[in-house]
Amino acid sequence: MTDWISLIRDIPDYPKPGILFKDITPLLADPAAFTKVVDGLAAGYAFDKVVGIEARGFILAAPVAIRCAAGFVPVRKKGKLPAETLEASYDLEYGSATVEIHTDALAPGERVLIVDDVLATGGTAAATVDLVRRTGAQVVAVSFLMELSFLSGRERLPDLDVRSLVTV
Ligand code: PRP
Repeated sequence: MTDWISLIRDIPDYPKPGILFKDITPLLADPAAFTKVVDGLAAGYAFDKVVGIEARGFILAAPVAIRCAAGFVPVRKKGKLPAETLEASYDLEYGSATVEIHTDALAPGERVLIVDDVLATGGTAAATVDLVRRTGAQVVAVSFLMELSFLSGRERLPDLDVRSLVTV
């Protein structure tokens, strides 16, 4: 099988000048690589639900859920979920962002694996951890395809089992 890490390509100056974007679409298009990543994100954990973070997190979290016979729960940007929600806001470089989860998406005590494609500053993941805990569910681990370690996002997820399949 092709080394799956080599299937993540660098796109300079996207979405803004000076940003080197990590594009995972070639990896997703390779069935063996995609399968390996899905298996890696789930390995070693027992959980009832996988929480995926919009939007690229959905692509990874849904197959993890099916593979592990768990349910899938979306965390979405504000205004996208139809029923009653909990919301959490976090700071961006300029301004802030808000994510939401359905109030009834998780039951107290359920074991949750959070999945996303990239850990950057950690704001999105920390807000998601907050949402999951407010439902009464338990965060078993937070699993990323890629960690941008120079942004120190891990520091915003203290006392959690944080796994990244590749660190840059
Ligand atoms: C990206 C990425 C993570 C988040 C990481 O999502 O998919 O969810 O940013 O950044 P952080 O650690 O600094 O919070 P983005 O907001 O670009 O959304 P998208 O997946 O819908 O494009």
